[in-house]
Amino acid sequence: MPIWLLLLLGLGLLLLLQKWRLLRLGSSLPGPWAFPLLGNAQMVGKLRPEFIFLVFTELRDRFGATYRLWLGPQLWVFLHTAEETREALHDATLRKAETFLQLEPLIGNGLLISHGAHWTQQRRLLTPAFRPILLRSFSPSVAKHADRLIQRLVATRGTFLELTDPLFACLLDAIVDTSMGGQLDTQSVAHSPFVGAFHRSSQLLFKRMINPLLASDWVFQRTQLWRELSEQLQVIHTLMDSLIERRSAQLEQQADVAPRKALNLLDTLLLAKIDGEPLSRKQIRDEVNTFVFAGVDTTTAAMSFVLYALAKNPEAQDRLLEELRQLPPHGSTDLDALNELPYLDALLKEVLRLYTIVPTTGRQTTCSTVIGGRTYCAGVTLWINMYGLAHDASYYPDPYVFRPERWMQETTTLQQDVASSSFSYIPFSGGPHVCIGRRYALLLMKQLTAHIATAFRLELRPGEPELTLQAQMVLKAREGIHLAFKKR
Ligand code: HEM
Repeated sequence: MPIWLLLLLGLGLLLLLQKWRLLRLGSSLPGPWAFPLLGNAQMVGKLRPEFIFLVFTELRDRFGATYRLWLGPQLWVFLHTAEETREALHDATLRKAETFLQLEPLIGNGLLISHGAHWTQQRRLLTPAFRPILLRSFSPSVAKHADRLIQRLVATRGTFLELTDPLFACLLDAIVDTSMGGQLDTQSVAHSPFVGAFHRSSQLLFKRMINPLLASDWVFQRTQLWRELSEQLQVIHTLMDSLIERRSAQLEQQADVAPRKALNLLDTLLLAKIDGEPLSRKQIRDEVNTFVFAGVDTTTAAMSFVLYALAKNPEAQDRLLEELRQLPPHGSTDLDALNELPYLDALLKEVLRLYTIVPTTGRQTTCSTVIGGRTYCAGVTLWINMYGLAHDASYYPDPYVFRPERWMQETTTLQQDVASSSFSYIPFSGGPHVCIGRRYALLLMKQLTAHIATAFRLELRPGEPELTLQAQMVLKAREGIHLAFKKR
């Protein structure tokens, strides 16, 4: 036998031995037929982003609550029950899914994808930047950007417009202002290069994440996609570096007069010391990029759906307005007053359930672990289906109906009680990695909703397509939502 054939056979045998436990696990799980070596990569790679979750839900109907896909040599397992989800989200041996590591060029080893001791340290360091007293102090800045948005909407004179673009600019300005003390003013320019760079880099990164053929860095870095991504990232990194330098200089000046105090996330990072050493500029940039990346897209999508839901359900709009009219003067900037409004709270909860802004998240097994009574070996990617849970009829009767009242005390059903206490309602995930920005996101959403709903009556463009499962992905594709804002 020629030596090259022997070597090839030896290599094949070694691979088989290495992957043996994975192969055994994969073949014990139901799932669609998989090609040798390629698995189901061809099927997943061909999916358009807006259909990916639709297909995953169809597969759940065909193969049951726990099924598998093979992405080449990678084994993906989809979990769907609330109990399995709870166990997976609390399992300290799991890491973030390898797919998310592809965000590295934008967010480095930031909180969203880091793990182990580094993650614990960063999480502990950053948690104080989201304490209620600081969040409350953000209200006037958020109100300033919300007012700017209102002016832009007034200027449209009640004609139909695509609303995700103006919302994105408003939230980018508000988040950079409140978390870094920087004034981007993207709302004042027609085509901000920063808005373009954030949009495009998210799109390009997402394109890569759902294409298993681009998983290898070596392959990806030889594509046109990578070249374009690098250009967009350059714009973002240059901007963030300049904001960090400016804030650092301001803090230095303040130090001459009084002890320096962290007033926002960037201050927390600039003043932090780990083992007596300050964080490097790259570490700081990675974290602020993480917050902008994790915060702006999600709150833009969430607010787009709030406004869409209000336009589609005029009775919800009337009920909200009635509640908002009982607020004291300037109540829409008073976070405590806004937190007392039960209908506003229920409305946001229902939007986050029905439109599940983050429809799924993934984890990677690092060693043998038991979840839902099944043993998983190392190297499995577990996908948690927040969308599927939020639309499970056993928790939410008529799950596809928009009904904020289901969250109000007087109408809460037994199923709802179970849903709130179990892991079926996890728009911000759960366990130790629960969204660190969840209270901040709700503050932004409550203030913006109150400002807009008080100023305008919202109307849906006739013939606007129904937004359902693939809505989040459609938004990413920038087809957007068209509404008219009629001055009250
Ligand atoms: C409606 C808006 C938002 C939604 C639906 C949302 C959702 C989520 C979800 C589901 C996760 C967990 C992912 C996982 O378990 O793998 C997460 C994590 C995270 N979110 Fe949010 N998020 C929102 C807004 C924000 C905002 C405004 C910020 C910050 C400015 C933020 C920063 C983060 C960070 C840093 C993490 C990683 C936390 C960790 O792993 O320790 N998010 N978010």
